[in-house]
Amino acid sequence: MLTLCGVHPIFFINMNHNVKKLYQELIGMKDYSDYQKTNRLLESLFAFVLDKKGKNVLTNNEIVNLHKVISQSVYEFEKYWANTIIKSKNPRKAFESFSDMDRYRKLTKMEWMSLLICSSHKKHNILFIGGGPLPITAILIAQNHGQKVTVIDADAFACDISRRLVKKLGLSKKIIIIQSDALGFQNYRQFNVIFLASLVGIEKNMKENILLHMRKHLQSKTHILVRSTFGKRKILYPPLPRRAYDIFNPILEARILNGTINSVIIFEHSAKQGG
Ligand SMILES: C[S@@+](CC[C@H](N)C(=O)[O-])C[C@H]1O[C@@H](n2cnc3c(N)ncnc32)[C@H](O)[C@@H]1O
Repeated sequence: MLTLCGVHPIFFINMNHNVKKLYQELIGMKDYSDYQKTNRLLESLFAFVLDKKGKNVLTNNEIVNLHKVISQSVYEFEKYWANTIIKSKNPRKAFESFSDMDRYRKLTKMEWMSLLICSSHKKHNILFIGGGPLPITAILIAQNHGQKVTVIDADAFACDISRRLVKKLGLSKKIIIIQSDALGFQNYRQFNVIFLASLVGIEKNMKENILLHMRKHLQSKTHILVRSTFGKRKILYPPLPRRAYDIFNPILEARILNGTINSVIIFEHSAKQGG
């Protein structure tokens, strides 16, 4: 049997079949607290979207459903790891063993380096929207780049467990966690760098609504880092809609093509854009 570029054609059919099967398995789960099963399915889905081979065969409706499932399963995944680290005799070692550490290390380093290109701010007052049960980005920015970070999350449980986690890691002086929905938060003016997690505002028009609300409360020259996706990665998280690029001045877009899911767009707010 002829093989295509050394790969048996059945391979592609298997890959496409697999993503449909993965979708049905994930959608079919009652909840995502079974860490082993959830992690196995998430890892397979991440491998599919990062693999150049195999094209997406999910419908738009299926992708919208999957975004909701990814939001729930990532939340449970983070809860599992936050509990593991809090209960550990050596929380720091447990934190370093986080199974997704490599991806987040690359992503936060890319984001931090990209921020340093924009030289408007001598001192960064950082807000992270959507820290989750495991505010890993805030922890890596505090730990590896010596910054103070304020995290907001709409979810009471996520705020409670992440405060306990940050305390266990000895970072309570560097990371403050506030329970607030991004749409209700009024103190954006205190910050000159704002991160928007990709799982915040996955519902239709929600990201634009959050950015428009934010714009009413920002100091000029604030940098807004919005996580997005591209290509097959859109199966996991919705990309930032184009019309959101008109809310602020886009100044930089960065992507890591190997092993990381999110891309990032850095916008700058100018007072002329008004509220
Ligand atoms: C699971 S985390 C992912 C971020 C990841 N932990 C990090 O550090 O990069 C996403 C969190 O966003 C929160 N979230 C979603 N929509 C939000 C909103 N409108 N305002 C504030 N938090 C929100 C959810 O409660 C969830 O805990």
